[in-house]
Amino acid sequence: MSGRPRLTVFGTGYLGTAHAACLASLGFEVLGVDVDAARVSALQAGTLPFYESGLEPLLRAGLRSGRLSFTTSYPAAAEFGDVHFICVGTPQRPGSGGADLSQFEACFAGLAPLLRRPCLVVGKSTVPPGTVVAYSQRLPATAPAGPGAELAWNPEFLREGHAVDDTLRPDRIVAGVWSDRAEAALRAVYAEPLAAGVPFLVTDPATAEMVKVAANAFLATKISFINAMAEVCEVTGADVLSLADALGRDRRIGADGMRPGLGFGGGCLPKDIRALASRAAELGAGEALEFLHEIDAINQRRRTHVVDLAREAAGGRLVGRRVGVLGVAFKPGSDDIRDSPALEVAARIRALGARVAVFDPAAMDRARKVHPELDYAGSVLGAARDADALLVLTEWPEFSAADPGVLAKTVARRAIVDARHVLDADVWRSFGWDYHAPGRPAPGAPGALPGRAAGVRPRQAEPPAAAVSFLAAAV
Ligand code: UGA
Repeated sequence: MSGRPRLTVFGTGYLGTAHAACLASLGFEVLGVDVDAARVSALQAGTLPFYESGLEPLLRAGLRSGRLSFTTSYPAAAEFGDVHFICVGTPQRPGSGGADLSQFEACFAGLAPLLRRPCLVVGKSTVPPGTVVAYSQRLPATAPAGPGAELAWNPEFLREGHAVDDTLRPDRIVAGVWSDRAEAALRAVYAEPLAAGVPFLVTDPATAEMVKVAANAFLATKISFINAMAEVCEVTGADVLSLADALGRDRRIGADGMRPGLGFGGGCLPKDIRALASRAAELGAGEALEFLHEIDAINQRRRTHVVDLAREAAGGRLVGRRVGVLGVAFKPGSDDIRDSPALEVAARIRALGARVAVFDPAAMDRARKVHPELDYAGSVLGAARDADALLVLTEWPEFSAADPGVLAKTVARRAIVDARHVLDADVWRSFGWDYHAPGRPAPGAPGALPGRAAGVRPRQAEPPAAAVSFLAAAV
């Protein structure tokens, strides 16, 4: 290939659409490909089929420039592209922890026999270890171009809600390649971020594939670690927010990605740790990743615990109570409800006999389709109306900005569960709210400082009385 490579992107979900639109914004000609004709028409018309901040303007700019377009035609894509990125979904296989690679297989099997000239096929989908080696052997055997068609692996680390930034300015670019030609092609694609100083890490494809699943396993572990500490805080009267703050200031630990609360969900972390553990077991290394089952179990317990907190806040029972729920998306900045902890908690509370009114700034339509039994309010106030308990389950900024004085007049009982630790406990208590949060002491609990229960402790807190008398005895 000479000059700027022409690019295709197979799979137009969060990852593929962000990748296609961002590369078009860098000046490449990009063809997005999907088997879903309705999705392709929507994208071609400049409409994003999901919510992702900043992506729709980039999509429209790409379409206007003529550099970005979408198709369902594999032959057209094979003819067009020098570098083909595969970004299709790899969800969890129903009834098993393993990954369902059928979309990846269908994409590969559809594309490879059409590749007649030298090209690079680049896997970006998250796949369990061992996948890339098998496909790299099949590619030259299946493609008419023979060894001219080569496979490389270039995992994607973007977070939903930050897809554009994470694609254009990633922490690192990992290029898993078997040849200098493949490395040169990826360097050409990422010339602009590389010029801006983004580290380019060249590995073999099997390692690149591992980097992605290991990164997600580490991120999940960090979240479950602090949530496990929250469980211990609850029985000792310690405060998990102060604990996370103090731990995070150790540079070897770091505060990022260690927010305690309702735990992780979404289309990535939960299924990726299960797929990794499952593949490791198939390969005979199951023992090495046994701990990931515990990470998953800790995460699931958070959901049960928040249901328990809701019951406590609602006065000891859920049957016949009204519960207001703020947030159903798996995280703020997204309308994604795949394995959403918030939506699961809302549905469980409904199943336990409460009436549940939910509000979310972006994910209402998606949630309504899956859980029509919930009531869907038009605002924060609507969800709170006459509630016996109000729950904050997704940390949208509009929820942390909610006015406790106004809401106090709307609810039936002033009881709040702050499952994501976004509210100021002292302020809410000052408006008469009964404040509950996982991993934080209730007023009067053994570790709670007088007047500062469930608030971040002052830096130089008074030592408890027992410690003072010990010090006195020592001098
Ligand atoms: C995750 C990874 O962060 C990305 O690097 C990766 O590319 C992506 O999966 C993927 O495999 O495609 P994402 O699922 O978009 O990205 O979201 P995160 O920001 O990692 O959050 C995941 C879940 O963990 C959310 O439910 C969030 O609320 C929760 N979380 C996150 C916490 O409970 N505490 C934290 O400190 C951080």
